[in-house]
Amino acid sequence: MSLYIQKVQEITNQFYAENGRLPSAFIQTFGCQMNDRESEKFSGILAAMGYSEGYSEEEADLVLYNTCCVRKSAEDKIYGRLGALKSQKAKQPGKVLILCGCMPQRKEVMDNLNKHHRHIDIIFGTFNKHHLPKLLHENLTANKRVIEILEAFSPDSPDAFEGQTSRFLSHKAGVTIIHGCNNFCAYCIVPYVRGRENSRDHKLILSEIKSLAADGVKEVMLLGQNVNSYSHSDIKFADLISLTEEIAGIERIRFMTSHPKDLSDDLIRVMAASQKVCKHIHLPMQSGSTAVLEKMNRGYTKEGYINLISKIYEAMPDIAITTDIIVGFPGESEADFSDTLDVAKQAKFAGAFTFMYSPREGTPAFNFKQEYPKEVIKERFDRLVAQVNHMQAAFNKRYENQSLSVMSDGISGKGGRYTGRTDSNVLVHFDADASVLNGDILNVHIDECRTFYLKGRIVI
Ligand code: SAH
Ligand code: SF4
Ligand code: F3S
Repeated sequence: MSLYIQKVQEITNQFYAENGRLPSAFIQTFGCQMNDRESEKFSGILAAMGYSEGYSEEEADLVLYNTCCVRKSAEDKIYGRLGALKSQKAKQPGKVLILCGCMPQRKEVMDNLNKHHRHIDIIFGTFNKHHLPKLLHENLTANKRVIEILEAFSPDSPDAFEGQTSRFLSHKAGVTIIHGCNNFCAYCIVPYVRGRENSRDHKLILSEIKSLAADGVKEVMLLGQNVNSYSHSDIKFADLISLTEEIAGIERIRFMTSHPKDLSDDLIRVMAASQKVCKHIHLPMQSGSTAVLEKMNRGYTKEGYINLISKIYEAMPDIAITTDIIVGFPGESEADFSDTLDVAKQAKFAGAFTFMYSPREGTPAFNFKQEYPKEVIKERFDRLVAQVNHMQAAFNKRYENQSLSVMSDGISGKGGRYTGRTDSNVLVHFDADASVLNGDILNVHIDECRTFYLKGRIVI
């Protein structure tokens, strides 16, 4: 691909000669941490081709949307914004619009884009991310729409994408350890748009983490749809964590996401003994009903999930466990839903992402019969949200008047206050002065515990 990087560079040089500035690129990321990480790579590749960083969609010469299609609402949000891009492009005809990521892997999306959104110049999917330079070159030189969607990874990918990269944060970074997913949960589109599970070579992962550490990164998050199934030439996930732990400079290790059916005793042991692995585990339960879990193809039961949680608390009493829950899966009865409330109560979650079931064409559940009206599902959803908020507030309350290690993430955009995260991943707002750098681990005394964050001050 470096050939095309060079070729696009010639074009951006020409742009510079004519305009006295480099063209700018603006990236908008939707969806999960995998997409965040991949957007860093797009940003690195665009920089290598001579693009400067754009600060808004309106002014940028190139706009790239890295998309998500996990729920209809995610797609609708993106479709909504494509309309605005159309009028911007009308004012700025040379503007290049790129849409990539998970959405265009869906046939229905491509049909819609071809019919209603022909102002998008370049469209590619998840299996050919590293073709960005080639596709951009083709668009810029032939001045035509360029579409390339593959059905599976081309033989040179996915690691071909691991070259040039930018980092959006100086102190923490995501590191993809597994591409794709093999679990085929009945509701989920991810295996179809991300392909089969593929664990990256542990030597590549570790050398990536070493170079991040050398570059000042203090916290890494190991990423995969199911990190617990990591396996590469005898190295399992718990081994990978232990090897990461040995890397000097890395102070915090996180991972996302853990599938309950594959969480090993080894991992619990390694976590409990570790000084660096954060005491937080995101363990999506999806439902508390064994019957629904079975229809979802999750591979565990209500009791299995409760036992797993008990085992984790036994080994690490202070751990924060968070979860994902879907409400309104086809056929979910009031009794099934009560099971969900019951497990949530027993699990004492530190937080939960709650979703209303969204049918995704192409998944098995798309054809399951929905017996309950929207209002019933919405009412259950509201009850669940009230319960999980209550649980989160109760979890956070434990920190009142305690001094906690908080890694600073700097000043947050909105409130202008410093923010950071505890080891257990709880958001903390605190007062500080400019001597505090991103990634500093501070001792913060907690004065106030709110549902979604803590408030405190630095103590020595
Ligand atoms: N690999 C992760 C989840 C990735 S998707 C895991 O297995 O836990 C993130 C979350 O989106 C899922 O945990 C699930 O709660 C939710 N989700 C996925 N598909 C959905 C759908 N069709 N409708 C509603 N929520 C969905
Ligand atoms: Fe989707 Fe299930 Fe794979 Fe998670 S494990 S990405 S929910 S299919
Ligand atoms: Fe969305 Fe794709 Fe991630 S569908 S959740 S961006 S893997």
